[in-house]
Amino acid sequence: MDKILVHGGHRLDGSVRISGSKNSALPILAACLLTRDQCVIGRVPDLSDVHYMLQILTRLGAQVERASGTVTVSAESIRTDAPYEIVRKMRASVCILGPLLGRENEATVSLPGGCVIGDRPIDLHLRGFEALGATVKVHAGNVKILAPKLTGCNISMRGQHGTTVLGTDNILMAAVLADGTTIIEGAAAEPEVVDLAQFLNKMGARIEGAGTSRIVIEGVKELHGAHHEVIPDRIEAGTFLIAGAICGDTVRLRRVIPEHLDAVASTLRQCGFTIDSGPDDMTIRSNGAIRPVKLATEPYPGFPTDMQAQLCALLARADGVSMITEHVFPQRFMHVAELKRMGANMQVEGATAIIEGVPTLSGAPVMASDLRASAALVLAGLAAEGVTEIHRVYHIDRGYESIDDKLAGLGAHIEREKE
Ligand code: EPZ
Repeated sequence: MDKILVHGGHRLDGSVRISGSKNSALPILAACLLTRDQCVIGRVPDLSDVHYMLQILTRLGAQVERASGTVTVSAESIRTDAPYEIVRKMRASVCILGPLLGRENEATVSLPGGCVIGDRPIDLHLRGFEALGATVKVHAGNVKILAPKLTGCNISMRGQHGTTVLGTDNILMAAVLADGTTIIEGAAAEPEVVDLAQFLNKMGARIEGAGTSRIVIEGVKELHGAHHEVIPDRIEAGTFLIAGAICGDTVRLRRVIPEHLDAVASTLRQCGFTIDSGPDDMTIRSNGAIRPVKLATEPYPGFPTDMQAQLCALLARADGVSMITEHVFPQRFMHVAELKRMGANMQVEGATAIIEGVPTLSGAPVMASDLRASAALVLAGLAAEGVTEIHRVYHIDRGYESIDDKLAGLGAHIEREKE
């Protein structure tokens, strides 16, 4: 295992190129199972989660080739049961259910466990499959879904914590080959859902309304191969905006879609930062003090839950008391205990973190837990006095392509060592 050492107190300056989106690439790679033809996906980030997805596709029988950022998938004939030993490593592998059902009318995948950000149920996914005519059996830790015939219908994806992103993706991928029309009410509107729908339409699907809460899918007989380039990773981009906020002079992000970061940019402006946007770039400048904010995480276009930990790292040094409430994953506060070890003054009450800003943080050995909490610890280390050692950085490598190299390119004193 590796650890990352961050030597705090160095200003960041310059520009960084944002990679393709993990949360777009994963469902789009799964969607390649929906056709026997070859699909070519560009700007696929080099991440361990992507590696796991390519392993799963290979084990299902697809031919998979990767040449730097481009992945080619040919699923001429496939199995419909995914291996537990790989699926258990990545919850997002649940998004192969929809394409397996759409293509082969059956799927067997191990049930995703919980994880440190909380329980990760898939009841809304399964309810959607049943509405399309599938039977669902849970046995020995596996979910087995049979659907001799998929028939379009009206489905709600609304749950107690709002909608579901991968649930919307799964129903989209099952419904594109169903008989008749499917209407998804309460659909997730994340840019990654839109990107998936655009790829599916390039394959011959007939999807309208992606990006709104109501998506209409006209089933077709079959899909053909397509080329697609995934959108930039808005969460990686937001993470680097916060790096610039924490210790930057002027930090510029290249190859982003600014509108995907509207909620993050408006929050950082409330904190007192200047953010300018071009057609595919954003620049953040500090104006001195960090102002506290009060907000809740929401499904897109609200403030993303995947940016909550990173914002906590910034607000740990704000001039006043901030409050952040998690409306998506109420337990997603693993980073708070570690930030407190660095001198932060924050408490979690229910689904709300109350953060009293302190003037400085001090470097300390800390433990990464989930992907975004780990990134938050790196960000906190950038501003802390002394050295912060982040252990178990495999969590970070799941979702950030060379985060240490990219930060070093901006002037951070950061290095990776073998544990
Ligand atoms: C996607 O996960 C993202 N992952 C997550 O990013 C992100 O945090 C999440 O959406 C919310 O935006 C990928 O896209 C690969 P959900 P997903 O289903 O789809 C509840 C990261 O850091 N729920 O939208 O699995 C659920 O418990 C990762 O990149 C049900 O109750 O999340 C949660 O409270 C972490 N029943 C809420 O809905 C269900 O059937 C949102 O979950 C499904 C979900």
